[in-house]
Amino acid sequence: MTPVPALPELRAEAFRLLSRGVADRRSAFHTPTLATIGPDGAPQLRTLVLRGFDPAARALRLHTDRRSAKWSSLAGDARAALHVYDPGAQIQLRLSGTASRHAEDEVADAAWFASQPGSRLCYSVSPGPGTPVPAPPAAPRADAGGRAHFGVLRLVFDRLEFLHLHHAGHRRARFAWGTDWVEETWLVP
Ligand SMILES: Cc1cc2nc3c(=O)[nH]c(=O)nc-3n(C[C@H](O)[C@H](O)[C@H](O)COP(=O)(O)O)c2cc1C
Repeated sequence: MTPVPALPELRAEAFRLLSRGVADRRSAFHTPTLATIGPDGAPQLRTLVLRGFDPAARALRLHTDRRSAKWSSLAGDARAALHVYDPGAQIQLRLSGTASRHAEDEVADAAWFASQPGSRLCYSVSPGPGTPVPAPPAAPRADAGGRAHFGVLRLVFDRLEFLHLHHAGHRRARFAWGTDWVEETWLVP
């Protein structure tokens, strides 16, 4: 029987999965679901590509269009959560924390210049994402001021829940970080 891992090992495994999500397009952790709170207080969910992870800062990097609903929702309420389920590994991660928005700064510049030309084209779409139109618009073929619409979300999480569906008994754990402490505990699944 596989031994039950210690909590710090489980935490390290969660961080490894997030790092793999950045590097491996086939990993389920490459396309998590981001939750924000709309101006009416209602939850909003959508898939995003996980672009970066800084384990020391517990910071995830995501890219989006500054004309999108999520960008304005985060201006009103910076709380955000992220969910991934990997059916192969039978692992679910749930993270929550605060997202900062980067538009015209070094963080956004670095992300823009490191991104593929094909990815940049999305930001040249006009009108902006979510605008009602009579028919689906053609994909932009050339950069038409995409940088002005490009933004980076930096989600620093202070809560992480790990759930592993396991034949010998499901394993659920919660990790929480404060300024100078980490709290970790098993939970009843
Ligand atoms: C596989 C996949 C990857 C996506 N990646 C991104 C992304 O990295 N950034 C983004 O803004 N939208 C991405 N989207 C589109 C979003 O899910 C969403 O439809 C869009 O951002 C508008 O969301 P909003 O109106 O809630 O702001 C992706 C969608 C899918 C299905």
